Amino acid sequence: MADADPYQRLIGPLLAKDDGPDPEWMSQMSLKALAWAARGRHWPPWRGLLTNTAAALQRHHPQLQQSCLGLTFPNPVGLAAGFDKNGVAAAIWHCFGFGFAELGTITALPQRGHPRPRLFRLGAEQAALNRMGFNNRGSARIVSSLTGQQMPPPGQRPVPLGINIGKSQATALSAAEEDYALSYRRLAPMADYMVINVSSPNTTGLRDLQGVEALSQLIRRLGTTPLPTLPPPLLVKIAPDLTDTQLRALAELALELHQQGLLAGVIATNTSLNRHGLENRRLLTGGTLAEEAGGLSGAPIRPRALAVVGQLWGYLQGRVPIVGVGGIDSPQAAWERLAAGASLVQLYTGWIYRGPQLVPAVLEGFLKQLDAHGLNTVADGVGTGLPWLP
Ligand SMILES: Cc1cc2nc3c(=O)[nH]c(=O)nc-3n(C[C@H](O)[C@H](O)[C@H](O)COP(=O)(O)O)c2cc1C
Repeated sequence: MADADPYQRLIGPLLAKDDGPDPEWMSQMSLKALAWAARGRHWPPWRGLLTNTAAALQRHHPQLQQSCLGLTFPNPVGLAAGFDKNGVAAAIWHCFGFGFAELGTITALPQRGHPRPRLFRLGAEQAALNRMGFNNRGSARIVSSLTGQQMPPPGQRPVPLGINIGKSQATALSAAEEDYALSYRRLAPMADYMVINVSSPNTTGLRDLQGVEALSQLIRRLGTTPLPTLPPPLLVKIAPDLTDTQLRALAELALELHQQGLLAGVIATNTSLNRHGLENRRLLTGGTLAEEAGGLSGAPIRPRALAVVGQLWGYLQGRVPIVGVGGIDSPQAAWERLAAGASLVQLYTGWIYRGPQLVPAVLEGFLKQLDAHGLNTVADGVGTGLPWLP
């Protein structure tokens, strides 16, 4: 993947150093280009470029297909929430080889997020620290922009599109249910699946909604919210920093709500407040990771995110699907997440560092592991604990 890959050659060196181009600026520029491509995707020059991109990055294979959450996934590798917060490239994520993509986090009210700088690169550690604070255009405007992209309706798209919702900063925690319900009502009719984000570390009090009582009430509230369409499957995204006791309580709740048809699955995990041995690492601000606010992502959180999936699988034993995310930056890391119990995996920080070739590399890795272990499809590998065979 290294030398022949233009991304590694051109962008790789910029990402190796903390003081390369501003990471938020780089993300914004990429998203601008993607938004143009999505809007102009039927215009021949863009169409040609997207067709070539898809030809290079997509891997179609029946062994990669899976029925999960009541949906069909052409492959189990998705884009994690937070990159396309406003859904500007919703119509074209499949061209990058992803088997699904999650848009958001979207809040009921438009919001700017925290002051900049709020996204930091830790090049040597292949990690990032962010305290974006749910900067997004708000659910009402995002509905119009998704409608403007003229995509096929849920169930008829090239890949499932998830929509991740969170609480608006200005809404009190006591009014969180109403706030989530408003975004849910607006966005659920456009989503193949919905996610409630109760695990971002950058909105005060949000993580308290992971408590069994609050979460149960929130999910039941959304379950009784009237929609003009059948409700899409609902997932909850959790933090990597929960204690074993909290995780167990959450798993028990997930199982109960799953049996009642109110919850389809669990996404584990979001970014971490734990500094994973990097407490004394200085950021460009001069402050250490111990001093700076924000959630850590990328390679340093991989062991913890993997352990959380393993623990959840231990409690759930396949009865509730798990989506694994956190520090996945290689085919091996992706396979290990699947083997630990994740039916689907998502990429963010690793995708930025490794580039678009990471998706086909992971998919080819999966096919090789299935072959080496004598398994038929990716679903057969989930929770088996089977090792990565080099
Ligand atoms: C800059 C940035 C912004 C993010 N924004 C969101 C978000 O809005 N909603 C969310 O659920 N997760 C968000 N995440 C978390 C990712 O979806 C993912 O759970 C986390 O980064 C761990 O995966 P990774 O190590 O592959 O990045 C964000 C992550 C980063 C790096």
